[in-house]
Amino acid sequence: MNIAPMIDDAQRHAQAATGRVALITGAARGLGLAIASELGRAGHPVVLLDSTEGVAHSAARLRAAGADARALRLNIADEAAVRELPARLRALGPHWDRLSIVVNNAGISPKTNGVKRTIAEMSASEWHEVIAVNLTGTFLVTQTCLPALCARGWGRVVMITSQAARTRTPVPGAHYAASKAGITGFARVLAGEIAAHGVTVNCVAPGRIASDMTDAVDPALNAKLAEIIPVGRLGRAEEVAAAVAVLVSEGATYQTRANIDNKSG
Ligand code: NAI
Repeated sequence: MNIAPMIDDAQRHAQAATGRVALITGAARGLGLAIASELGRAGHPVVLLDSTEGVAHSAARLRAAGADARALRLNIADEAAVRELPARLRALGPHWDRLSIVVNNAGISPKTNGVKRTIAEMSASEWHEVIAVNLTGTFLVTQTCLPALCARGWGRVVMITSQAARTRTPVPGAHYAASKAGITGFARVLAGEIAAHGVTVNCVAPGRIASDMTDAVDPALNAKLAEIIPVGRLGRAEEVAAAVAVLVSEGATYQTRANIDNKSG
């Protein structure tokens, strides 16, 4: 085995990153924004995709911090809009269609007065909405982006799932847990189908992370949950972003179909 000079290796990876555009869904805030910030810091041109207007401001914040960042406003549950994604990337300018990394992060977890609806109380429309965004949206974005990733012979797909896909969690509803478990199954099949194209597919399953989504429940409940977390606090969005950065890194060529728990204890 050759031991490459350390500084050369770091420079080589930073140079490679500038040629690998990363698309992060749900990046106007929270985990998605932290992931975009981390990948931007690593040198990747980053496209922040979100259904809300605020995404333009978030991309501007990353540019002000020195990242090559652009915003795309798009609802991932709208199939026609997702199919326009390649054209919208090309419209951003010459290097923006060099898509190599897709982080499927956008998701919703509806609450009523800060509390999930039980299965007995849940309307079919609420069920369909969560599946449409979390699961079908992930399928649509991934399928639309695959030709670009496969054509380049190097790609990374990361799914932000949840502990709700792995175990019983008290806060989110059944639709959310089903959608995240569904993404895990989707990722498993996808990883096998595209491995030969040099594209890896991995899931990161965060525990309870401080964000607007977690703020939607009673603060007393978050405090109570923090008490049973071994480090005694909720996770930080940056801590999820750090796990994503490892999975999309240059060297992670033989890391696929993994489910990485991102939680304490
Ligand atoms: P958040 O609610 O703060 O941010 C989600 C972002 O996704 C928002 O900017 C929202 O506008 C965007 N979004 C929602 N629907 C969209 C759509 N149809 N099209 C495009 N963008 C859309 O949530 P947070 O906490 O940052 O979570 C991010 C991801 O991490 C979600 O998938 C969530 O399920 C997952 N997660 C979060 C955990 C937490 O404790 N915060 C724990 C486990 C998983």
